[in-house]
Amino acid sequence: MKTELLDGKKLAQDMQLQMKERVNKLKEKGKIPGLTVILVGENKASQTYVRNKERQAKKIGIHSTIIRLPDTTTEEEVINEVEKLNENPAIHGILVQLPLPKQMDEQKVLRSIRYEKDVDGFHPMNMGNFLLGNQATLPCTPYGIMTLLKANGVELEGKRALVIGRSNIVGKPMALMLMNANATVTIAHSRTENLKELAQNADILISAIGSGHFVTADFLKSAAVVVDVGMNRDEHGKLIGDVDTEGAMGIASKITPVPGGVGPMTITMLLEQTIKKVEDELR
Ligand code: GUN
Repeated sequence: MKTELLDGKKLAQDMQLQMKERVNKLKEKGKIPGLTVILVGENKASQTYVRNKERQAKKIGIHSTIIRLPDTTTEEEVINEVEKLNENPAIHGILVQLPLPKQMDEQKVLRSIRYEKDVDGFHPMNMGNFLLGNQATLPCTPYGIMTLLKANGVELEGKRALVIGRSNIVGKPMALMLMNANATVTIAHSRTENLKELAQNADILISAIGSGHFVTADFLKSAAVVVDVGMNRDEHGKLIGDVDTEGAMGIASKITPVPGGVGPMTITMLLEQTIKKVEDELR
């Protein structure tokens, strides 16, 4: 079987071209979308993500700023920064990069964001509305994956989907989105027994466990669609996914590469939701 790469980078570029037009239209009406990312601490992966988010945002004309705070920052200080942004009419999107340092209650910080400005979809109001099927800002990674699957004509209705990972950011919302698309969904995690057997029965396999090359060729059903959310470093410091992509070649029908698969889509949905907030304001 020929395995097709699900090219997130290309789709992201195409979508961002259209977004640039939307930003230009907003600018003609005197509105510049504003996005601020708060980054606390020195986490290397977070620094890279945040830099990429800023670069992509600027490319399409979004006014993007980063507030960098040291590891020693207190929860109150972060919440103070958030509250200033809540009150700033030039800022439409606020994103607190996760993970936060251990001394902080992540949920408390996320709750301090005005939910109308939450572009990550992590605020309980957005999470709750999403769960209930109401209008909501969505978590960007699963939203990006759904967009990538749809753009590539992947059928989900009636299919068996396995999500490996149960985080609030990816696993849980991913499972809900797949269920809403009428897939039959199983969620697996580190305590799951017979995980390989579940994988072997999955038409769609989404891996978000953060363990390099955990999913090997023998996990895959023939012609499965494989989505790799992993961003891991191997012993040489090379970026690798959760899936052994090379091993999956010839077995999977479609697979996302790492890098260039899910990552660019996450950023694109963040930009999409930032622009949408400004468009909604003008309605
Ligand atoms: N950490 C890893 N992924 C994300 C994300 O999509 N948003 C935020 N805020 N933090 C993250």
